[in-house]
Parts: sequence; structure tokens; C-alpha cells
Amino acid sequence: MTKLYSALWVTKRLYSGITGKVQAQKYVLTKYFQGEPKKTDFKIVEEELPELKDGEILTEAEYLSVDPYMRAYMIGYKLPTDMIGGQVAKIIASRNEKYPVGRYVTGSFGWRTHTIVNTKKRDPNLPLIILPDMPYPNSLALGVLGMPGNTAYFGLKEICKPKEGETVVITGAAGAVGSHVGQIAKILGCRVIGFAGSQEKCDYLEKELGFDRAFNYKTADIRAALKQGAPDRVDCYFDNVGGEISSTIMSYMNKYGRVAVCGSISSYNDPALPKATIVQPALVFKELKVEGFLVGRWYDRWDEGIEMNLKWLQEGKLKYREKVYHGFENMVDALVGMLRGENTGKAVVKVK
Ligand SMILES: NC(=O)c1ccc[n+]([C@@H]2O[C@H](COP(=O)([O-])OP(=O)(O)OC[C@H]3O[C@@H](n4cnc5c(N)ncnc54)[C@H](OP(=O)(O)O)[C@@H]3O)[C@@H](O)[C@H]2O)c1
Repeated sequence: MTKLYSALWVTKRLYSGITGKVQAQKYVLTKYFQGEPKKTDFKIVEEELPELKDGEILTEAEYLSVDPYMRAYMIGYKLPTDMIGGQVAKIIASRNEKYPVGRYVTGSFGWRTHTIVNTKKRDPNLPLIILPDMPYPNSLALGVLGMPGNTAYFGLKEICKPKEGETVVITGAAGAVGSHVGQIAKILGCRVIGFAGSQEKCDYLEKELGFDRAFNYKTADIRAALKQGAPDRVDCYFDNVGGEISSTIMSYMNKYGRVAVCGSISSYNDPALPKATIVQPALVFKELKVEGFLVGRWYDRWDEGIEMNLKWLQEGKLKYREKVYHGFENMVDALVGMLRGENTGKAVVKVK
């Protein structure tokens, strides 16, 4: 290739598809949530993006994630603030050859359509990952092959440390993290009991994902369900929801049981923190180990989780479902829908 031809080719590749300035749309949170999030808590703002500087890329969102932490975390931000969140986006212009136009990346860019990302100055806690070519939808980088998948992988393996033959109980069992935890526990040879919010979800867990038993927490007597589903009691509890059901499960555990406290979604929309039955007697007499965690603890091992989950996916040992919402304008409906339990598996929004 001559030098001139090569220069033209690079210029075309770096800037293909971009004519004129790009208008980005983004969600700005202007009011703290009271109960369920509402559209009126946000403003959609347009902004014109500047020219790219050396080392920067311009991305266009393909999928945006809606996650429970978005409901829980925003209380800690000074308003107005740009809405936080992960996305999968296509590189549509680039001034870093390592990030070529046309490739897809995943990163925490927030609820916005277009983003300028500085590839050289990165916060180590907010990784920017180029998606490999894979025979799966890109959205999996927000689910099974992303943060929720790693939450399941590290939370179960490192906090619960389940052994073959032990009984693992999971709440929020049909969601992104919960459905994944249960499948890993089955791969590890455990008996797996899930609690989820509808009979349809329970059927999915038992018939498609191989859970030994699943119960609808909205209608079941939790203690009776545990007696039936976990006759040898519970060794590991993966807690996604908190509240009274967690107190009941903890009081039904075996000696030296382990509890991974992943989240407490049963309280996220409550203006006043709910009360639950005291758990300390069970912790003392059963000598339980209860540990909260944030998945970021394992950023230095991030690839290990992704690779393991990908391997299980390819081997057919790990299945997934997604609830795909459509349209950037429907982000709030998607967030609320997920908090209400409309999703089985991971909830995502396809931007266009
Ligand atoms: N520690 C970490 O690093 C980390 C990382 C990711 C996620 N998390 C936590 O993990 C949990 C699951 O997150 P996810 O992303 O996988 O979400 P998800 O489970 O896919 O979606 C949320 C689910 O929560 C359930 N839910 C809603 N209200 C509930 C209630 N009052 N009681 C019981 N369940 C309720 C709904 O299912 P039903 O139909 O079953 O009610 C809904 O589908 C959350 O607590 C989240 O905060 C923690």
C-alpha cells in the first residue's frame, strides 16, 4: 500500500459515517426518586459533541442496561446529575487505532445515545472493553457475559464457597444474577432451590434451568417451602432481596452455613426502611458467616469470570433469557418494569 493510499484508508476508517457534529441525547436525573422511579424525575437533554481529540473515540449506544443499583445508588448523587449505567456501543469515529470504527465496546457511559470516550485516561474501576466477535447478541455483555454474570460467578464461588452435595438457596432467582447463580451451583453439583415472583418464573427455573425446586415467594409459606425443597436444610444462601424472607432462610440454615449478601431489592422502592425478624440468634447458634460484597472487588480477575461464563455458555451448561425493551425514550419504563419483576433474566433496552 502506498503511503498516500494508506493515509486515505486510515482517515476513511477512522471517520467513516460521521458527517458534521453529533447531537447526543442523555438522561439527567433532576429529582430524587420517591417510591418507584418516574419519567418526571428525569429530563432528556440534547448536547452537541465536540471534535475528537487524540486518543478519543465516539460511540453510539446499541443496548443500555437497566439494573437495580440504579434505583439504590442515585440517592448518593448531588442533583442534577447524568444518569449512570452500562451500555454496549458501536465505535463510529476513532482517534486511537486500537479502537477501530465498527467495533463494539462496553463501558459505563450512562443513559446516553452518543459518547466521547478517552481511551487513554481511564478510571480503572470503569473498564472499557472491546467486544470479541461472538455468535451471541452483543447485549450479553450487559448480562451473562458482563457485570451480572461476574456477580453470580464471584459472589457464589468466593463468598458462598459451595461444595458438591450442599444445598444452595437463591432469592431473586429468575433475574439476571439469580438465574445465573443457580446454574453455576448446579454445575458445581449442589441442590438448588430458588424463590421467584411468579409460577411462570418457577416453571422456567425448574424445567429449563434445572433448579431442583422453585417457589413463588408471593404465595408460598416460606418455611414450609424450605422444608419441602431443602430437607437437609441450607448450606449456602445467595441473598438478592433482603427483608423477611432472608430472615426465614437464615434461620433454616445448617451449622457453618455461608450467606452472600448481594442486594436487598425488596427495600429499594420503599421510602422507609422495612423491618425484618432478628437474625442474630441463627447467626450465633448456627455459627453462620454472612458477607456483603460488591462485584468490583474482583476487577483484577474480571476476565476469568467472563471466560468461564462464556465456556459454560458454549458447552450448553449455562442458559439465558433477556427481557428486551425498545427505544431510548422508554428507559424509565424499562427500569420500572425490571423493578416490578417484568423480566426473566437480564433486562436491557435496545436503543433503536
Ligand atoms: N453486590 C453487587 O455487586 C451486585 C451486582 C449486581 C446486582 N446486585 C444485586 O443483585 C440483585 C439482583 O439484581 P439483578 O440485576 O439480577 O436484577 P434482576 O433480578 O434481573 O431484576 C430484579 C428482580 O427483582 C425482583 N424483585 C422486585 N421486587 C422484589 C421484592 N419486593 N422481593 C423480591 N424480589 C423482588 C423481581 O423479580 P420477581 O418477579 O422474582 O419479584 C425482578 O425481576 C439486586 O438486589 C441487585 O441490587 C448486586
